Amino acid sequence: MIKKLFIKTFGCQMNEYDSDKMADVLRACEGMERTDRPEEADVILFNTCSIREKAEEKVFSDLGRVRPLKQAKPGLLIGVGGCVASQEGEVIMKRAPYVDVVFGPQTLHRLPQLLQARRDTGRPQMDISFPEIEKFDHLPAPVLNIPGHSIMSGRALPQGEVPQITSGAAFVSIMEGCSKYCTYCVVPYTRGEEISRPFADVICDIEELVAQGVKEITLLGQNVNAYCGATEDGDTLDFALLLQAVAALDGVERLRYTTSHPKEMTQRLIDVYATTPKLVSHLHLPVQSGSDRILAAMKRSYTALEYKSIVRRLRAARPDICITSDFIVGFPGETERDFEATMKLIDDVGFDVSFSYLYSPRPGTPAAELNDDTPPEEKSARLARLQARIDELEQQVNQSMLGTVQRVLVEGVSKKDALELAGRTDNNRVVNFCGTSDLIGRFVEVKIAGVVRHTLRGELILKLEKS
Ligand code: SAH
Ligand code: SF4
Ligand code: F3S
Repeated sequence: MIKKLFIKTFGCQMNEYDSDKMADVLRACEGMERTDRPEEADVILFNTCSIREKAEEKVFSDLGRVRPLKQAKPGLLIGVGGCVASQEGEVIMKRAPYVDVVFGPQTLHRLPQLLQARRDTGRPQMDISFPEIEKFDHLPAPVLNIPGHSIMSGRALPQGEVPQITSGAAFVSIMEGCSKYCTYCVVPYTRGEEISRPFADVICDIEELVAQGVKEITLLGQNVNAYCGATEDGDTLDFALLLQAVAALDGVERLRYTTSHPKEMTQRLIDVYATTPKLVSHLHLPVQSGSDRILAAMKRSYTALEYKSIVRRLRAARPDICITSDFIVGFPGETERDFEATMKLIDDVGFDVSFSYLYSPRPGTPAAELNDDTPPEEKSARLARLQARIDELEQQVNQSMLGTVQRVLVEGVSKKDALELAGRTDNNRVVNFCGTSDLIGRFVEVKIAGVVRHTLRGELILKLEKS
């Protein structure tokens, strides 16, 4: 009988990507199929996130919920991976002794061996080491199945296996980890230092995806613009050159990347926006705060003015670019004046859709030691004000798109109405519109006819290509 795998993913796109890789590796080695019902699973995995306190606590409550399933199915194995596992592996083993395997973001390729060792020895297994970039050398090649396209690489899957159905858009990880050590953040501790994948490996992954019909690539990493990849002749290549090389590949029609750091936003990279139309007019460039005092305490290594200078140069290269950001509100010592500086920066830059969070002290990070005397109600009030302003700015962009014709990659059926299609614009807006399912995975032109909160409504104008 085919064994079933249930994975619950918390956290960022890196974790989403890793969960797909866990499924790939277990499909290739154990012939497992994914299920969305934990009750029917033979293996249940939690891919965890520890960026904020709430994300971490959720794992333990979810673990408690699946524990009774073990009584009904004695062979069921439960695994915990991701960033909580990486930082708190021992704690998980103690607090939830029924967990069978614990593994980190850099050891997920060893899952089949860990599960087998658990079955053979009857003892829980843990591997949360950082074996550099080894992970990528042990993962099956990317395989996709896009409706209307039948080409498959065949290298990764056992015969007869049905690959995941996707949309013409795919993620490719180009680097792992982070070496910035912002004072509030756990990522360098959970994922290790920045390591870039070799240039040829990235290009090879993209070529395979394109051969399967993928048209849009998102390059993925904690700080993609710190990319420094080895070439085959022993040289290295930076992110600006990587972008140009990827854009030059036939079949790559649209190119995105996330996340990037202002410190690594070189003029060479900014210039790519002027010369590379395939690169989208959307950049997620988290600023975190608009106060230089707080930025220094966060160890972000830029000032608000330097950030604005980057934005000015980006807009010179690409006038219609939408800039989005992450914000942390209520960092220790943030005064009303610091917060006003953030609000001013928001207006100066005109940020589009952004994420904002209340500061959450993380064990083991330097900021967790700082004195933090701002009352929680004050922090929450600041967050609400910031979010309301960002919402207004988002709506301004939405309104400015009304009546325009947008190039949209059709990603699937709409979440709200299965009779409608959903696609994404260049500036990362979801558009719902009427159309037939043969358009999934293709570019179309859609006229923007309305706005419903965070999504747009459109009318199909043109199919941009043959099947
Ligand atoms: N590498 C990216 C973001 C990584 S984490 C960058 O540097 O911009 C995603 C976001 O989580 C961060 O941008 C930050 O806004 C938020 N974050 C990280 N640690 C946090 C903490 N301790 N409390 C609240 N938000 C946090
Ligand atoms: Fe965390 Fe800073 Fe690295 Fe982003 S750059 S992952 S916020 S340490
Ligand atoms: Fe969370 Fe780890 Fe991503 S802490 S945000 S899953 S890198």
